[in-house]
Amino acid sequence: MAGIHPPVTDWANDFDHTDPVWAADPYPIWADIRSSGCPVAHSERYGGVWLPTSHDDISAIAYDTDHFTSQSVVVSEGRPMMPAPQGIAPPISSDPPFHHGARRLLLPAFSPKAVAVLEPFTREYCNELLDAVDGKDVIDAAVDYAQHIPVRVIAKMLGFPPEDADTFRMFVHNALEGVDLPVEKRVENFGLLDEYLRAQVDDHIANPRDDLTTFLLNAEMDGQPLNAEHVGGTIALLLIAGIDTTWSAIGASLWHLAKTPADRERLASEPALMPFAVEEFLRAYAPVTMARLVKDDFEFNGCPMKANEWVLLPFPAANRDPEVFENPDEVVIDRVENRHAAFGLGIHRCAGSNLARMEMQVAIEVWMDRFGDRFTLANPDAVTWSGGQVRGPRQLPIALS
Ligand code: HEM
Repeated sequence: MAGIHPPVTDWANDFDHTDPVWAADPYPIWADIRSSGCPVAHSERYGGVWLPTSHDDISAIAYDTDHFTSQSVVVSEGRPMMPAPQGIAPPISSDPPFHHGARRLLLPAFSPKAVAVLEPFTREYCNELLDAVDGKDVIDAAVDYAQHIPVRVIAKMLGFPPEDADTFRMFVHNALEGVDLPVEKRVENFGLLDEYLRAQVDDHIANPRDDLTTFLLNAEMDGQPLNAEHVGGTIALLLIAGIDTTWSAIGASLWHLAKTPADRERLASEPALMPFAVEEFLRAYAPVTMARLVKDDFEFNGCPMKANEWVLLPFPAANRDPEVFENPDEVVIDRVENRHAAFGLGIHRCAGSNLARMEMQVAIEVWMDRFGDRFTLANPDAVTWSGGQVRGPRQLPIALS
């Protein structure tokens, strides 16, 4: 179904983060707004959206849970149906004080120790994906490789059938890219996810096992079992939050290496640089922009924000702010000082960052072990990027030599 918004012609006063121009290259848009003397843009679309572009402003809003709610973090025409402070997908949709407990119970599953256990499985799966395209001259690093990795890992963690991968990707697409759709269509799309999760949860109630779904079904917060909406919402979040974020980050990293011979050769000959390169790819190509809703009318840095308007938090723009990063538009794969905001800022900072980093590092390592520096973009014009709040390559044909 086609979107309902006309193309953007005025980025300062009528921006739309789902516009194809933003998807193709949002950095000049943010840089123009940041340096315009009015660094927080406003658009009437979606019932009102604000767009801060400096690191300072993005950080101030991300930390300010008094004036901004996380009740919904994905901009759409509608407004959240689930009340605060729990919201539809705890903890990302939760406000204090509920947020703290909902987040804390998840953290052990994503600790460095828990993630290390998943590494051999991830490495083996990455190798299997490349075995499957062995002998081809051109492979699509997004379609054949990056998109599969986080799906398989989260399906294993949740105890969901790996063969449902296409269904999970459809849910992700509906939740994050299908935002420019009429509200009824969005509600219908969420109904499909709800139905799928209900069946998985019922199956886990009937057949408990050692996985994250059974863990959540038995978990307690403040001495009470989690309510059914909490369990379902958290599972939906984990399914959605970890998939196209990580797939985008892996894809953008491989895109950069394919088009930058000096970095490709250096990383092939100095593999010890990998952790620094991963951080720099996260900074330079941060995939995730989140949103908040304004709680009550409030003036932020001279901007008259109205209750129920959206505020986009473009963490990728914060990472390109020249006030905070030297040469922000340059990718420096051994950048040492790199306190980037790719995983967010404040109480909602990504709970899955250890897992995301592991998946990125393993995916790039397995790729480099296989192809060394012998890969390039097959056709730069054939690369396509997803629009909306999670940005990454969706078609990425790579030529192997
Ligand atoms: C490179 C990959 C990833 C990026 C860039 C990323 C980015 C982010 C960002 C920016 C937030 C903050 C949201 C906000 O402020 O509203 C966030 C939250 C979150 N992420 Fe990630 N994420 C990634 C991968 C993952 C993975 C693999 C998982 C787990 C499967 C995950 C689970 C979560 C959860 C549970 C939250 C909510 C935390 C809270 O509200 O306290 N993420 N992520």
